[in-house]
Amino acid sequence: MNLLRGKSSADYVHTGEWAKKAITEAGKFCSVNVAASSADRNFAMCPRQPMWKLNPDSGYVHITSNETIGGIEYHWLPDTGGVPLVADMSSHILARPVDVAKYGLIYAGAQKISALLD
Ligand SMILES: Cc1ncc(COP(=O)(O)O)c(C=O)c1O
Repeated sequence: MNLLRGKSSADYVHTGEWAKKAITEAGKFCSVNVAASSADRNFAMCPRQPMWKLNPDSGYVHITSNETIGGIEYHWLPDTGGVPLVADMSSHILARPVDVAKYGLIYAGAQKISALLD
């Protein structure tokens, strides 16, 4: 809700199970634009940037940077044209250096982080 900053829509990239859950939850608070989906490829890849249909008036663009169940991981940084990039990094946060300045928000499930710190 805070990330929408008064906007009524958010962009989501649908790459599998965790993205789907995020889309379902976001739909309770705003209109969700599925900017790209790899459903037609059985979630076996990340949709490449040229396939994305971003809404420039979205509050943010959400990606699941590592789809734990399907095993799909971004190895590139999306260009959101100035719209804040939000990433669910639950299953690979701290796995490599990340330029956090490129993101509006990074989040991760607490149980994953505590597993990393154990
Ligand atoms: C990519 C991703 N997002 C979200 C979650 C869910 O995390 P939580 O159970 O803390 O909500 C997981 C859990 O495995 C995950 O792998």
